[in-house]
Amino acid sequence: MNTRHTPPAPAGKPDVCQPTGSAELAMLDVYMPMMKSAAIVSAGQLGLFEALADGALDTQTLAETIQASPRGTRFLADFLVTIGYLEKHGEQFANTASTQRWFTRAGQVDYTPGLSWTLEAWPMMGDLAAAVRRGAPEKTLWQAMEERPQLGKTFSAYMDAFAGDLGPDLLAQVPVAPHHTRLLDLGGSHGMHSIRFCQRYPQLSALIVDLPSALTETDATIARHGLAERIHASPGELLVHDWHGQHDVVFYLSVAHNHSADENRLAIQQIFDALNPGGLLVIHEYLADTPNNAFMSAFRLTLLYETGTQTYRYGEYADWLASAGFANIRRIDLDPLEKGSLILAVKSA
Ligand SMILES: C[S@@+](CC[C@H](N)C(=O)[O-])C[C@H]1O[C@@H](n2cnc3c(N)ncnc32)[C@H](O)[C@@H]1O
Repeated sequence: MNTRHTPPAPAGKPDVCQPTGSAELAMLDVYMPMMKSAAIVSAGQLGLFEALADGALDTQTLAETIQASPRGTRFLADFLVTIGYLEKHGEQFANTASTQRWFTRAGQVDYTPGLSWTLEAWPMMGDLAAAVRRGAPEKTLWQAMEERPQLGKTFSAYMDAFAGDLGPDLLAQVPVAPHHTRLLDLGGSHGMHSIRFCQRYPQLSALIVDLPSALTETDATIARHGLAERIHASPGELLVHDWHGQHDVVFYLSVAHNHSADENRLAIQQIFDALNPGGLLVIHEYLADTPNNAFMSAFRLTLLYETGTQTYRYGEYADWLASAGFANIRRIDLDPLEKGSLILAVKSA
């Protein structure tokens, strides 16, 4: 008999992190999450959610729109109904409110690039056992991106979508002062964080430093937002790159988990040295001291495979920051927890 006590999943969306099968059907725990991922990723690849963004469609019309067979389309759509991604309205299929919100251009944030990235990550995770055996990647994600530039482009597009989700939190929590005029965005990738802050604060200009693989679209994105005069992207390895003088605000957003503890200690010291008095460092991270849950553990396993690095505890950041000379160090946990935490620190005037 199944005696596990798990909290009820939110209505309409079964929680795939919770065991799905009874003890007698243990393989469902393995098979169903795989099929769930495969179906959602395929829907993204086929443009199925986007095809339904303007309203419900019957199988035939949906199949024609996504240029797929009616039979395949119906099987896929039927399954997406059972996992809460589509609804059936009579003979028509429609996006659920959540799918419309998160996986179409009509929604608040379109995570479709995250589906493309999942497709790239899929074969990597098939090789996870080898990384566990070694305790490190065979080659890092950054090396793989040098060999396959498309990988870097797909990853940056995913980070761009995530930045759309995190952007309002950052704008609400980061106190940019009128005398802050120079922003340094380390690992700034797609450029959207710099763009949002330059749009909000007209006195700001920004320098983005990232690996060449992450910057393939950045100049075009900056130009599209009409900010080519105020934001510049500079390709390079951040620990040895020329940061072009002193800055007032430094972003180190989701970058520390891609570095070793020693590299982070060094980066934070270099950031302190590159800040003007009264300057602000903003770190966004997933902290290792938040309760161990399925997401945080999965993220650490992903890092083991992709970069060989890990998440760190708040205490470690506080130690690196205090040793570098920072004051007013504070932590803000975002809601929901899966969005991570911000750490703000000031170089005293
Ligand atoms: C998880 S992404 C975060 C991107 C962006 N900061 C954001 O928050 O959306 C990490 C970024 O750090 C960059 N990165 C990793 N190691 C780096 C290094 N040694 N030098 C420069 N950039 C690096 C990656 O290329 C990638 O764009």
